[in-house]
Amino acid sequence: NYLKIFSPATVANVSCGFDSLGFAVDAVGDEMTFTKTAEKGVKITEITGANLPYEIDKNAAGAVVQKMLLEANADFGISMTIHKGFSPGSGLGSSAASAAGAAFGANQFLENRFSELELTKFAMFGEEVACGSQIADNVAAATYGGFILVRSYHPLEIIKLPVPNELRLVAIHPQIEIKTKDAREVLPTKIPLKDAVTQWANVGGLIAGLYSENYELIGHSLVDIIVEPARKNLIPYFDVVKQNAINAGALGAGISGSGPTIFALCKGDETAQKVFDAIKNNYKNTGIEATAFISKVN
Ligand code: HSE
Repeated sequence: NYLKIFSPATVANVSCGFDSLGFAVDAVGDEMTFTKTAEKGVKITEITGANLPYEIDKNAAGAVVQKMLLEANADFGISMTIHKGFSPGSGLGSSAASAAGAAFGANQFLENRFSELELTKFAMFGEEVACGSQIADNVAAATYGGFILVRSYHPLEIIKLPVPNELRLVAIHPQIEIKTKDAREVLPTKIPLKDAVTQWANVGGLIAGLYSENYELIGHSLVDIIVEPARKNLIPYFDVVKQNAINAGALGAGISGSGPTIFALCKGDETAQKVFDAIKNNYKNTGIEATAFISKVN
């Protein structure tokens, strides 16, 4: 009747795969607890690490659990605590971690009646509560783990992709807040066919690289000529950090989700450490606090 879980941070977009690719991170995430209650309904008794609403309808996690209990016609309730391991507006899928964790947790008390795909849909509802749109890339990565492709939104289809053994993430989070909604407002609404061809060829290359464990191909394909140029101006020193990561041996680097976190993918622990060392102090003396970390993709 009691459950404690870890729900991971996620990197969405992954350069060329805007709104369609994502992966889960094992070094950073939320801790959540769930207690089954005789009284019906959902309660959030504690939130630490971020200033989030306790009102169930306004909280991504609370809204998800409420919807699931209603849909399952449950004759019990759930009381939850949420301990955020990273902040909203970081570009690491903060609301997605809470929403996907909530869906997973509630499902344990519902005899696992909902599939991973259904849990992703519930969690997308939580994303809508938190940021206004039902985007799947973060929540699917948090639900399925590893690397995922949102192959289609209507109907929702998620493909789990392989993760090459030595793939590592290095990320740096400059502590400025970028709201996904604002970062979506700067996006182009039309793209030239030539650019679309480059972009979808890179998506294909990245996926082929994941399947064949071809790190060089992964690196060549980690390119985004459509979204990154529009969004990078929201992130101070983006070009410098990206170049430093690549100079230190990263396969590629880009904006994590809608930013401001900058991610780099690397082959092996040694290179990841070099990249970490090369970027961890990049915001020193800029007046912007920043935290960097290394993680497996898991
Ligand atoms: N794919 C989304 C975006 C992720 O970049 O806007 C943030 O929710």
